[in-house]
Amino acid sequence: MSTNIAIDGPAGAGKSTVARAVAKELSYIYVDTGAMYRAMAVHLLHKGTDLENAAAVAQSCQDAEITIAYENGEQQVFLGEENVTLQLRTEEVGKAASKSSPNPAVRQKLFHLQRELAAKYDVVMDGRDIGTTILPEADVKIYLTASVSTRALRRYKELLEKGEHCELAQIEKDIEERDFRDKNREISPLRQAKDAVLVDSSEMTAAEVIRRILEICKEKDGR
Ligand code: DC
Repeated sequence: MSTNIAIDGPAGAGKSTVARAVAKELSYIYVDTGAMYRAMAVHLLHKGTDLENAAAVAQSCQDAEITIAYENGEQQVFLGEENVTLQLRTEEVGKAASKSSPNPAVRQKLFHLQRELAAKYDVVMDGRDIGTTILPEADVKIYLTASVSTRALRRYKELLEKGEHCELAQIEKDIEERDFRDKNREISPLRQAKDAVLVDSSEMTAAEVIRRILEICKEKDGR
């Protein structure tokens, strides 16, 4: 049977950096579920679907052929034959994913893909509802968070490094709004699973968080 580690938490808590490193250390596969929601958003944008129209989104998502492959340990996301991995991290796609991901039909489609991967492989899977909905029986569950101000500052520095102009106050506001949406949506809202271990990374470096999660995995393993 495969071993599954679920890492959930709000946007900007550092889930992907940490999940990728933990997966590498344990020789597991890293599954970035946010990328799947983003790929679905690319599909909907390609089709020109009105993202405010839930019935249209539910209809349009049905023929999305999203598959995952791994190249040198890195997740690649395909829409049909096309590798869309490099298209996923833009603001436009992020916004579209945020609008379409609460749709039950979208979640239902990706639920099966995520469960299949977890059944087949040892995985570190990150997202919003992995420990609560996708893999309620996961061997280890982590809820990784950080204060709004810490997450905003991290994002601010990231954007500055990319040479993008931005206002820290605006980023904080965006993060608060996104948290509100993620936590208050009807289906699969973001929340800590009862049996998840809380890790607050506000005062921790990425290396410290990775070490802490590896320790938690060892403790759970009884070693
Ligand atoms: O983590 P991210 O920014 O790549 O996620 C993109 C969008 O998908 C974001 O709006 C939250 C949503 N998402 C979700 O609803 N459930 C998940 N398991 C992962 C992401």
